[in-house]
Amino acid sequence: CQRPLIDAFDRRITYLRLSVTDRCDLRCAYCMPERMQFLPKKEVLSLEELYRLSLAFVERGVTKIRLTGGEPLVRRDMIDLVRALGRRLGDGLDELTLTTNGTRLAEFAGPLFEAGVRRVNVSLDTLDSERFETLSRRDRLDDVMHGIAEAQRVGLSVKINTVGLKGINDVEIPALVEWAHGAGHDMTLIEVMPLGEVDGERVDHYLPLTEVREQLEQRFTLTDSTYRTGGPARYVRVEETGGRLGFITPLTNNFCASCNRIRVTATGQLYACLGGAEKVDLRAAMRSDAPEENLAAALDEAMRIKPERHTFRIAPGEAPAQPRHMSMTGG
Ligand code: GTP
Ligand code: 5AD
Ligand code: SF4
Repeated sequence: CQRPLIDAFDRRITYLRLSVTDRCDLRCAYCMPERMQFLPKKEVLSLEELYRLSLAFVERGVTKIRLTGGEPLVRRDMIDLVRALGRRLGDGLDELTLTTNGTRLAEFAGPLFEAGVRRVNVSLDTLDSERFETLSRRDRLDDVMHGIAEAQRVGLSVKINTVGLKGINDVEIPALVEWAHGAGHDMTLIEVMPLGEVDGERVDHYLPLTEVREQLEQRFTLTDSTYRTGGPARYVRVEETGGRLGFITPLTNNFCASCNRIRVTATGQLYACLGGAEKVDLRAAMRSDAPEENLAAALDEAMRIKPERHTFRIAPGEAPAQPRHMSMTGG
């Protein structure tokens, strides 16, 4: 490859998280307000731009691309991007994955698999319809469960992502673990992160995963595992279920020292860190009169400005670390 992407802390960037849309068909209360302001569609990169951008990263040593949103599957032409990128698998690109809320997965699982996707991460915070509707403000649990089943049927590995929320789904976490593992899925638990304003206060529902681990250890035997996916989760094996359970703990134990990723929003803004404001405008570079040179320079700049770590804090009265929501950078 051309000059690899190495930041000022000697971390090599091999993983791109690319948001294809900031829109979403759910309104998870910890993620966004009910009246979320989405970006004007004209600001969003075209499919061709997303493709060119992705290849520019692959040329600089990115081997893994995760498509995110918002909800990536609400973008109509998104599957065409997956097909185009799928053709690059084995040619610099090792893995193409997707993080989805699952509402449209039943329709897209087959085409995703055919395009070369082998793993998807599906967000699911509860198995209870009423709680699902309260939490996501939409009555879509059945669609998600269908989507997960269809994904499994066509041969996709499914990882379940669950954000731990005090007073909301904390009581359900052991049952979720049993369900996920029983159905043959890996699962990761996630600490809620202070990104963007929401209607309530995140601090009211913040659940440190250290507490969840203690709760789970009363019921299960958890054995630390060296299994890694290239993401931030640290895994244990649950002896009773035989399944893998990951912990994503940006608040109680951050994993920034081994960060290997950058993220690009649907409008082509590269954020050097999920929790930071540092960014470069790849759209402007791509639309300039010397796109290749300017894109290369923008990626170099991104490596210079990537901060050492985020400084997430969740406390009463504390403002979000950043005004942008998780749905802009796709996690
Ligand atoms: P794989 O390990 O490749 O399966 O993916 P992942 O678990 O990293 O990705 P996924 O899209 O499923 O994201 C799960 C959660 O991890 C989301 O809430 C993301 O916001 C969070 N996450 C992913 N990368 C980072 C990161 O660099 N920093 C922080 N703080 N959170 C991250
Ligand atoms: N903190 C933590 N996780 C979040 N997600 C969305 N918003 C937040 C937040 N503020 C999760 C979703 C999904 C993943 C991509 O990010 O539940 O699993
Ligand atoms: Fe949509 Fe995911 Fe945010 Fe829920 S967490 S509103 S599914 S982007």
